[in-house]
Amino acid sequence: MTKTVALGVSGGIAAYKAAEVLRGLQKAGCTVRVAMTKRACEFVQPLTFRALSGNHVLVDDYATDNPDPIAHITFSQSVDLFLVAPATANIIAKMANGIADDFLTSTYLASTAPVLIAPAMNTRMWQHPATQRNVQLLKEAGVHVLLPDEGEMACGTIGPGRLSEPEKIVEAALEILNGKDNQARDLAGEHILITAGATQEEIDPVRFISNRSSGKMGFALAKAAHSRGATVTLVSGVTSIDPPGDVSVQRVRTADEMYEAVIANFPRATVFIGAAAVADYKPNNREANKIKKTESALTLELERTRDILGTVAKSKMDNQLIIGFAAETQNMVQNARSKMESKGLDAIVANDVSRSDSGFDSDANEILILVHAQPGVTKYPLMSKIDAAHKILDQVVTLRATRLGRENKTAAASMQR
Ligand code: PMT
Repeated sequence: MTKTVALGVSGGIAAYKAAEVLRGLQKAGCTVRVAMTKRACEFVQPLTFRALSGNHVLVDDYATDNPDPIAHITFSQSVDLFLVAPATANIIAKMANGIADDFLTSTYLASTAPVLIAPAMNTRMWQHPATQRNVQLLKEAGVHVLLPDEGEMACGTIGPGRLSEPEKIVEAALEILNGKDNQARDLAGEHILITAGATQEEIDPVRFISNRSSGKMGFALAKAAHSRGATVTLVSGVTSIDPPGDVSVQRVRTADEMYEAVIANFPRATVFIGAAAVADYKPNNREANKIKKTESALTLELERTRDILGTVAKSKMDNQLIIGFAAETQNMVQNARSKMESKGLDAIVANDVSRSDSGFDSDANEILILVHAQPGVTKYPLMSKIDAAHKILDQVVTLRATRLGRENKTAAASMQR
């Protein structure tokens, strides 16, 4: 069935790029209806969008050429997605605070469709605490936020704030539209803290110890959890791929930095998933200058890093679920079970990291899931990392339901006593 997207265009220099977004959505088979703010009309004429979309462009509910006098209501009820691109600091502030003083903001309040915004503004405006607070409010209200790109802005500033590329906006819109029919927001209310990627432990200013993790598995988890309604915090080690655009990312380099970032975020999390390949050892003495080569062998002394997963598992509250990963090359089930039990995890995901088509750096993964206090193991065939992420999150949903069921039984029993 053809999907209808309401494309809201607010008044920034990036408004012209909305035309490319419109074309991309049409190419993907969507019908696009455009609504503009009055300021947006100063950057691009409504006629442009009218010609491209083949539909009347809505700016003002009560304009004489508008055939529908309560258009914000009828319009908002007839779309499958409400997309605002570009979303200025002003429109974000209005949406976050329920101000409905024009067609676009009234439509937002009246709409029951999923909402995606692609912010675009000057770097300092984007970084201002007021804007960040408003973006956070919208995220908490379930709005999908495609974070702006970094780069040179029209005003000459360099930094975050540039509108995401139109293809990226179209891709995010299609993901929401395609996910809408077959995917529940069954993780709404969960705050999932995920680690991803590799850590780097410095030997000297030019050398480090690291591993082959690309971050793809952790990023897929973040993306899938976000699409199912969870609030996601991603702590990412070193990766060479782009993180999911609509998830907040904290970048770290070393195992120590990852430890600190996880511990700081853990109290707010309801689920922790450790998909990062964290160094188990680090040089116990980082040389201040580049180590000079000599004819002799060089011995590096390594010391243990702190165990992030083990630490959060030990300090977890009753409502927090802890899922670990086990990167194995042999005895997968046995090794994974012993990691799960020794660290006190609720579940563990095992994967074979000796293969080239699965595990490290590939787009696919073949996973096994083991659950604490349950015998046996669930084996999944080789699948894309995003599909594997959804299987892991299905397990989170099951664990949560089991835990709530147990709590309800206990509460009922104590009321009977
Ligand atoms: O990033 P990709 O290229 O997509 O690859 C994905 C992956 C193979 C890295 C991922 O699927 C995976 O297996 N991640 C865990 C890697 C790992 O470090 O496994 P481990 O068996 O050595 O560690 C067990 C668990 O302890 C892991 O959850 C790990 O995050 C955690 N750990 C390890 C050391 C440490 N100091 N602190 C930790 O929390």
